[in-house]
Amino acid sequence: MKTWLITGVSRGLGLALAQAALARGDTVIGTVRAGTPDLAAAPGALHLLTLDMADAQAVPAAIDQAFALAGAIDVIVNNAGYGLLGAIETATDEEVARLFEVDFFAPFRLIRTALPHLRAQGRGHIINVTSIAGRAPGAGSGLYAAAKFALEGLSASLAQEVAPIGVHVTAVAPGAFRTDFLSGHSIRKSSAAAGDYDASVGKAAQAFDGMAGRQLGDPARAAEAILAVVDAETPPRQLLLGSDALRRARERLDVQIAEMDAWDAVTRATDHA
Ligand SMILES: NC(=O)c1ccc[n+]([C@@H]2O[C@H](COP(=O)([O-])OP(=O)(O)OC[C@H]3O[C@@H](n4cnc5c(N)ncnc54)[C@H](OP(=O)(O)O)[C@@H]3O)[C@@H](O)[C@H]2O)c1
Repeated sequence: MKTWLITGVSRGLGLALAQAALARGDTVIGTVRAGTPDLAAAPGALHLLTLDMADAQAVPAAIDQAFALAGAIDVIVNNAGYGLLGAIETATDEEVARLFEVDFFAPFRLIRTALPHLRAQGRGHIINVTSIAGRAPGAGSGLYAAAKFALEGLSASLAQEVAPIGVHVTAVAPGAFRTDFLSGHSIRKSSAAAGDYDASVGKAAQAFDGMAGRQLGDPARAAEAILAVVDAETPPRQLLLGSDALRRARERLDVQIAEMDAWDAVTRATDHA
């Protein structure tokens, strides 16, 4: 039986994960901005904390409160987040600052606050929910991709820093999952870009609009995948969720390797003689 801290259990992937953990009798400390999540009765114990990830001061206080409540926490899931769509050219400072606050700085602050507790425990597993946009970005979501790349980078480095003290880190990158992510409640959009962007950003925006409610990924199955990761003796440091994510990540790796090979001589030529 495990104790979890999951951010953003009000809906979507966080709600599905909280439900799956509670169903098997685990304890879940879940954060919400407001209200009570629609969770079915389950054998596990649920504690709710109110936390807006955009509030820098509130994050450390909530995490210390969670450890005070539970004593020890086995799994911390940085799940809460949202997307910003639009051309990089039209994104405002305010839009980008808030996006990075919620999608990167809040998970960073949460981790920084949790680490002394995890070191004292000598165990723990941090799951950072990133995105396929943070591995294989497309047009029209560049700032969101940037925030998720930042969380991927932090995760990869952190995994190496804390492995010797018994703490695991996994960056989980979902493809398109059928949650509220693309709904009017969650997604944010920068103002429309000039017509020059129709072929790239405009096309991507149409694809996102057409995808809402029809995404391939099942949040309940994503939750089962995350349970498998935290139960594994040797958990992965990166996990993709969904066949669409797998395809995009492989395609990008293939392009990267082909480009590295094509420019191999130029790359090597910069070493001191
Ligand atoms: N679904 C996808 O296709 C997809 C793909 C790749 C990555 N992801 C990532 O998966 C994670 C979960 O997204 P989802 O698909 O479950 O979307 P969702 O259905 O929109 O749920 C997002 C969750 O994050 C919470 N949240 C958003 N902003 C917050 C803030 N400022 N403070 C606290 N909580 C906040 C929401 O709370 P409220 O109910 O208060 O809004 C909600 O619980 C996100 O990190 C997202 O970037 C999703």
